[in-house]
Amino acid sequence: MNETMLRMAGIRKTFPGVVALDGVDLTVGQGEVMGILGENGAGKSTLMNILYGLYTMDAGTIEMQGKKVHIRNSADAIGLGLGMVHQAFTLVPNLTVMENIILGSEPSRAGVVDRGRARAQVLALVKQVGLDIDLDTMAEDLPTGFKQRVEILKALHRGAKVLILDEPTAVLTPIEAEELFKSVRRLTQGGSTVIFITHKLKEVMAITNRITIMRRGKVVTTLDTKDANFDVLANAMVGRQVQRKFNFGPYKPGELLLQVEGLRAASKHKTEALDGLSFSVNAGEIVGVAGVEGNGQTELVECIMGLMKPTGGAIRLGTKLINKLPTSEVLKLSVGHVPEDRALNGLILDFSVAENVVLGATESTDFSRRGVMAPRKIRDFARKIVKLFNVSAAGIDVKARNLSGGNQQKIIVGRELAGQPHLLIAHQPTRGLDVASTEYIQSLLVDSRNAGRGVLLVSADFDEILDLSDRILVLYEGKIIGELNRGAGIGELGRLLGGIAAK
Ligand SMILES: Nc1ncnc2c1ncn2[C@@H]1O[C@H](COP(=O)(O)OP(=O)(O)OP(=O)(O)O)[C@@H](O)[C@H]1O
Ligand SMILES: [Mg+2]
Repeated sequence: MNETMLRMAGIRKTFPGVVALDGVDLTVGQGEVMGILGENGAGKSTLMNILYGLYTMDAGTIEMQGKKVHIRNSADAIGLGLGMVHQAFTLVPNLTVMENIILGSEPSRAGVVDRGRARAQVLALVKQVGLDIDLDTMAEDLPTGFKQRVEILKALHRGAKVLILDEPTAVLTPIEAEELFKSVRRLTQGGSTVIFITHKLKEVMAITNRITIMRRGKVVTTLDTKDANFDVLANAMVGRQVQRKFNFGPYKPGELLLQVEGLRAASKHKTEALDGLSFSVNAGEIVGVAGVEGNGQTELVECIMGLMKPTGGAIRLGTKLINKLPTSEVLKLSVGHVPEDRALNGLILDFSVAENVVLGATESTDFSRRGVMAPRKIRDFARKIVKLFNVSAAGIDVKARNLSGGNQQKIIVGRELAGQPHLLIAHQPTRGLDVASTEYIQSLLVDSRNAGRGVLLVSADFDEILDLSDRILVLYEGKIIGELNRGAGIGELGRLLGGIAAK
């Protein structure tokens, strides 16, 4: 390890009913990329939130470059050269990229913001770290990958020497992730230190110098990346062997479940987000939709789920035309939906776990009798989901907001799969999940398929698509430009993703 930049020792933090951190030690060398791995709810974000002054620790000490520091709030943290990019972004939507970057650290002359100087500074920074972006776009109009760039630039503009990235790649496409890695390497070459949280073992292996693994509020081990491999990491994280093989029964597609014909849709960013798209999903198959983000996958799912109105074409469930049905009606036709953005469409963050598990199902006879909710049944069901999916939470009355990101995701997937829908629309179902939970949820998708249900799997994780799909549809500029069968490799997929149609 290089000279010590940061040392956290004996960090303890409890929330009502949970010991989130139970004496954690973390040492990070200057100029290195420190990976933090650990299952959902292990305490990774909490540890970083303490470092960044968002939470107060119950016990422990923090030193920077050998000096003890007291971080009472994020202003203190920023003053000490810490910067953090969260799992959920915090940009001001109606300000430009430029305004967001300099917000709170505007260079001024006699109390007036010096716009010219600010712009020159930011341009120099953009060039230095290689995070290209148009400074005059409104933050709300940016695709996710670019919002993240703004967050990073903002932290650096405030003088961050230690940059904390909490699951930065969960929201990035593989290509965007590659670009982020390049910038991270540039930053560390320039002497910055990066703390990198991720669930993707491949990424940890590719970008970090050292790795600390956490489990249930404790550090399991810290090791040099050169001494790590998939099995070592997975074992340390989960405490057992992680399997990566699934039991696929024979491929026997049955009745037609979903038929999409000549679908067209306009989006906020593009007039032809979907440009005459046709495909079908049958019972007993997993149909994967792959594509570089922004090629229509979001619009496709939203059209099917009644969250967006198509401008042309037809969507049928069986023989029933559903183009104009509202979401609540679509859900009643035995369709499950794991949405892309869990905080926006999947959960009500201020509702409890128990309330969230029955969202969308309150009229179901499972949970009510003659229109009156049956709290006991709801609570039993919530407990069942929490147990099955290994959700770490203090109880079913905890607000969804207080669950870790991955545990929020488990609640949604559990809820949607529990109803055994004929057709499941799974949009990034394993985003933010640890290796064990990813394996579990993927195996449930395979079980659904083996049991004769249909799954439309839309994912930016190409390994997930290749591992699970019976057929892969590749979306490019709102059209399906190619279809691959099980057994296809990343090379073939890659060519189609780039818009090179198969012959
Ligand atoms: N504000 C809070 N109130 C109550 N409990 C909390 C709060 N923040 C975190 N926790 C709990 O502390 C534990 C650690 O959560 P944390 O968010 O640090 O996990 P994580 O390792 O980042 O997980 P993930 O990989 O899912 O993001 C969890 O059990 C979580 O429910
Ligand atoms: Mg987290």
